[in-house]
Amino acid sequence: MRTPVIAGNWKMFKTVEESREYFRTFQPLGQKEGVETVLCVPYPSLPELVEAARETDIGIGAQNMHWEEEGAFTGEVSPTMLKGLHVSHVIVGHSERRTHFAETDESVRLKTRSALDHGLTPIVCVGETLEEREKERTRDVVRNQVVQALKGLSSEEATQTILAYEPVWAIGTGKASTAEDAGEVIGFIRQTVEEQFDSRAAERVRILYGGSVKPANVDSFLDIPDIDGGLVGGASLDPETFGQLVSAAS
Ligand code: G3H
Repeated sequence: MRTPVIAGNWKMFKTVEESREYFRTFQPLGQKEGVETVLCVPYPSLPELVEAARETDIGIGAQNMHWEEEGAFTGEVSPTMLKGLHVSHVIVGHSERRTHFAETDESVRLKTRSALDHGLTPIVCVGETLEEREKERTRDVVRNQVVQALKGLSSEEATQTILAYEPVWAIGTGKASTAEDAGEVIGFIRQTVEEQFDSRAAERVRILYGGSVKPANVDSFLDIPDIDGGLVGGASLDPETFGQLVSAAS
């Protein structure tokens, strides 16, 4: 009943020219029956890729945004600006933003609220650090991040978000979580959504796994009923490799 999502996060990679080149190869590979494919790319590539993806089923997303529509916030990009470009998705609260750019649970909440208010689908990232996992705090950390991010939303709005569980220690390390562990935490996130909202929201909200997803391990994650797809960093940078991940989900 939940459509799987395969979302790429290019992070700070690819010039506009490289993005254009990538999309030429990726376009036929990225459109598969029954899969929602999204590419979250650096701001400069957004106009080009939105235009290239216009007649396709591939969503183009940003990797961050400010929650205000405008103002004296040097270097920031607003939801209105993204909407004006016909961007469909935006990543919110990625651990790299939490770690390197002082993103807080409160700013994640404001951005999630603002994305929904502007018709953008927020991909809200949560996940524990290695230290937190070793102290057996995974559930507490993840529950708190989910509850804070979704605070104040209606049950219907909660279902319009996409959640991504990304254990920080698995990001870009080549060391993915086991599918069983990821499935357990994602099941727990679903339970958290049920407690915060209701069973309908828990059944409908899409929850992705992220952290060293690649063609060799993607099936193991997709086989877990609670896991609705992947948020993919490194393996989304090559169009053929990313295309394989989209195919795996179809
Ligand atoms: O947003 C994507 C994640 O940070 C995962 O990155 O697939 O390179 O581990 P990765």
